[in-house]
Amino acid sequence: MALSPQFLDELKHRFTLSDVVGRSVKLVRRGRESTGLCPFHNEKTPSFTVNDQKGFYHCFGCGAHGSVIDFVMNTQGMTFPEAIETLAGEVGMEVPKPSREEVERQKERASLTEVMEAVAQWYQTQLRSQIGKGALDYIKGRGLSNETLTRFGLGYAPSSRTALKDAMAARDIEEDQLVETGMLIKPEDGGAAYDRFRDRLMFPITDRQGRVIAFGGRALSKDAKAKYLNSPETTLFHKGATLYNWANARAASYDVGQVLVVEGYMDVIALAQFGIDYAVAPLGTALTEEQISHLWHMADEPILSFDGDNAGQRAAGRAVERALPMLRPGKSLRFMMMPPGDDPDSLVQREGRGSIEALIDEADPLVSMLWNNLTTGVQADTPERRAGLEKKIFTKLAEIQDENVKGLYQRDFRNRLFEQFRPPRRNTQRNRMQRGGGKRLAPATGLLASTKLGRIKTGAAVTDSIQQLLVLTLVHHPEIMVRHEEEVAGLVFTVPGLDELRNALVEKAAFGETLDREAVHAHLEGSGLMDIVRKMSADGSLKGDWFAWPEAALSDALTGFEHLLSRYQHITAAKEAYEQAEADYAADMTDENHARFVAAQATYRALEEKEADKEGYRLESGRFSFI
Ligand code: UTP
Ligand code: MN
Repeated sequence: MALSPQFLDELKHRFTLSDVVGRSVKLVRRGRESTGLCPFHNEKTPSFTVNDQKGFYHCFGCGAHGSVIDFVMNTQGMTFPEAIETLAGEVGMEVPKPSREEVERQKERASLTEVMEAVAQWYQTQLRSQIGKGALDYIKGRGLSNETLTRFGLGYAPSSRTALKDAMAARDIEEDQLVETGMLIKPEDGGAAYDRFRDRLMFPITDRQGRVIAFGGRALSKDAKAKYLNSPETTLFHKGATLYNWANARAASYDVGQVLVVEGYMDVIALAQFGIDYAVAPLGTALTEEQISHLWHMADEPILSFDGDNAGQRAAGRAVERALPMLRPGKSLRFMMMPPGDDPDSLVQREGRGSIEALIDEADPLVSMLWNNLTTGVQADTPERRAGLEKKIFTKLAEIQDENVKGLYQRDFRNRLFEQFRPPRRNTQRNRMQRGGGKRLAPATGLLASTKLGRIKTGAAVTDSIQQLLVLTLVHHPEIMVRHEEEVAGLVFTVPGLDELRNALVEKAAFGETLDREAVHAHLEGSGLMDIVRKMSADGSLKGDWFAWPEAALSDALTGFEHLLSRYQHITAAKEAYEQAEADYAADMTDENHARFVAAQATYRALEEKEADKEGYRLESGRFSFI
């Protein structure tokens, strides 16, 4: 099986070796490496090490050594093709069937990278020669040291149409190869090929392994059409799949657990000169999905740096959009905005490494960027507008592919909606005394004063409707549980079925499961509880309380719920006190207990009457009837 080195490399790259090894060997992380007991020989002290960055394991005891492919072959007794099939299957990669032409192409590709290497060498030589003096002065004037220039392989393409072509011809490098790598331009009309890059400072672009595959060329003359000219897409170079400084940053990122994405080549280089080696840049385009996946191999939360201006904000917004569907557990992005007028290059050169590190520390998580994008400047001062905003938000969140991440985003955004749009809490002295400390709720006024609680029912206790509305509101807006889990758990229900419904909701919240409406409804459906909900939903007497229904904006549902909860807690507390006083009096018929019983009964009756009055009931001989 002649598989291309690219395929094998890609396959290995899809796995974190310690994860695979960790399935059968207990590993302990020590810096860059993990160690454990060698599965290939018998030992008591660990001499087996796994290096994720290099992608191989090594045993200092028995000398076993290899990649993830070797590991699978040797621990599971598979042949090479079997191991490849197994691993590829695990990550959904198709094993290519290489043709003879394919093999030829691989050879050719290898020779193309050799061509590029020769070109890079030659450009470097030019920069150090008389012809490159202007370019060298320029770049030194921008603060780069000799060491940095060497490290990044900077070079100079002379101002000539054939300088590179001639130099390469002298080395027996074929013109076709130079055309194929984009270094020469071959006119369509059949004219002579000529150098693509002329009078430019040359930045070699390497692949993940550090092989030169393309160049970026910065114009030195003010008359040049484009400030930067990059190699075209070639057999070797796919812009959207590459990162500038990838090879160097891979190692550095691994050490610090961080990768920084900046906009320009000069930013990457200046940062490296100041000791920040873990910066990469896209190649003159917005970040692609493929680049984001590569970044996630380097760090869990790559930090994207953008200019502080509006264009930078828009670019950051596009990056959020691109990454959103791809988010998965543990993997996200963070965003850092440069001070106005600066880019990382200018800032680090003026204020040093600390200034960048401070910005990194303050970088915003993707979730806040998204929230800002969706809500900044949005008017949400009426129920319809709030509902509109909620719709916009939840439509956007639906793009997240990972169910777990999506659920938690929904929860987080519902929480943010509460915080942002809830009416200010009233915290009066009177209120505090009534509630006797703990979590205080707004008094039962406002919203509820205008509801039609149980209006067409007769005879039923008024609290039946309150109980039903409380539970209905929770069923349709389960996110309220995030805020009121404890109170909800403590509620005493008398209407049949509500206890079970509440318990199911509390259970879901307690396991930290996602509390979005669909998930909760599915859960209730599964436990046969949705029938009770449907029965309540069909009850016309509850219809007037719009906040309990799915159409209500979450913030309104919350307000309605809190008013209702406060009222219900009052009534149940009074009822409990009344029942307790009654029991005490029955047990011990003292004058004192009698007085307490009478007082508690009066308090409870008065409360009941107040509720009934509010809703259109009148108390008649201990029962409610509708007038
Ligand atoms: P910048 O103009 O910010 O580049 O473009 P820079 O790196 O800060 O360069 P200096 O400091 O002016 O020398 C950011 C990146 O956008 C791409 C390049 O990749 C550049 O590094 N770009 C820019 C182009 O591809 N073409 C252009 O004409 C300009
Ligand atoms: Mn710049």
